[in-house]
Amino acid sequence: MFSSNIISTFLPPVLVMGGISLVLAIIIIIASKFLAEYGPCKLIINEEKTIEVTGGYSLLSSLISNKIFIPSACGGRGSCGYCKLTVLDGGGPVLPTERPYLTPKEVDENVRLSCQVKVKSDMQVKVPEEYLSIQEFRAAVLYSKDLTYDMKEVRFTLKEPSAIKFKPGQYIQFNIPTKKGETIYRAYSMSSLPSTPNEVELIVRLVPGGIGSTYIHSLKEGDEVNISGPYGEFFLQERSDYDIVCVGGGAGMAPLKAIIYSLFEKGADRKVDLYFGVRSMKDLFYIEEFDQLAKEHSNFHYSYALSDPEETDKWEGETGFIHLVLDKLIKEGEKKEAYLCGPPIMIDAVIKVLNEKGVSQDHIYYDKF
Ligand SMILES: Cc1cc2nc3c(=O)[nH]c(=O)nc-3n(C[C@H](O)[C@H](O)[C@H](O)COP(=O)(O)OP(=O)(O)OC[C@H]3O[C@@H](n4cnc5c(N)ncnc54)[C@H](O)[C@@H]3O)c2cc1C
Ligand code: FES
Repeated sequence: MFSSNIISTFLPPVLVMGGISLVLAIIIIIASKFLAEYGPCKLIINEEKTIEVTGGYSLLSSLISNKIFIPSACGGRGSCGYCKLTVLDGGGPVLPTERPYLTPKEVDENVRLSCQVKVKSDMQVKVPEEYLSIQEFRAAVLYSKDLTYDMKEVRFTLKEPSAIKFKPGQYIQFNIPTKKGETIYRAYSMSSLPSTPNEVELIVRLVPGGIGSTYIHSLKEGDEVNISGPYGEFFLQERSDYDIVCVGGGAGMAPLKAIIYSLFEKGADRKVDLYFGVRSMKDLFYIEEFDQLAKEHSNFHYSYALSDPEETDKWEGETGFIHLVLDKLIKEGEKKEAYLCGPPIMIDAVIKVLNEKGVSQDHIYYDKF
């Protein structure tokens, strides 16, 4: 009796509320469908090329789907600031998600994060000429080998096109297929040399739960993938005859390996010093390779430092953070050019040490990741 009273009191309002929610949901779905459909839009590139795209997608993905590749190391998540383009017309107001990556000058000059700007109408865009030469490649895994418990060296043969032209230090973007059938993009520095243009070697650290690194670690010999490149402003300055200091940590080895081996392949007679930081012995790799290089070239020296050695490590080399080791070992006031690659916190600390040692800011090049 009591329960049937409750049902008759509460059921009608519940049904009414449910009905209203359903109608509202249908209205929202229909409205968003119409609002999101901007129809075909024209992208006018560098005032000379016009492409037609479907409105409603980001400027970055609209360009990529037309094989115009823009650096986008975070894969369009708005967290790297690499995808800047000048939008001369049709970009709408700057979004709060773009602000942290744009200087006031860039805002004045209509620079935008192309992954955040949606194409909703015709748009005029300036794409730097060097981006227009970035290509997409079909590649097959030549081999994949463990360097440590979480680091792999993976080498690919380029199939179509069959060669990539790049500078030591530059990176490629990897197309990662997701379970939802989408493609996401991740950046990986090339550790191979420009003198083997038909192959690309990567050194990839497995990030627990990471989509891109897990995918690359799962690849087997013969697997085919898509990559694009080359990208990046971090590369060996061939013109300089200053001594070279390379400092890195973790997967930051990849571009440094390419820079160091390229130098010696070209018969470098300048001094090349590598300072490399890892946590403990289990993170060490390429010791034999660098020992061999040091034997062959008296102008090459390298120092590894363990920041957190384990009791069982029995390490007799340097310990501590790599910037402190650098501070201890590097001499002041010499003409040096520095290439740094590793986590942002490490790079910032190393730059400070280099500045204090008299290495000028415009001779310090780095990639933070
Ligand atoms: C220019 C450039 C060059 C790069 N070169 C290399 C390279 O040579 N080798 C290499 O291994 N990587 C390199 N990276 C990093 C690489 O692009 C990916 O960011 C990295 O592999 C993680 O991607 P993911 O998809 O596996 O992880 P995601 O799925 O993106 O992230 C999974 C989770 O891990 C966290 N996470 C992401 N990255 C890290 C990290 N590095 N450490 C700890 N936690 C993290 C995220 O916040 C997230 O919670 C480079 C990045 C840039 C910008
Ligand atoms: S792709 Fe990284 S911020 Fe746009």
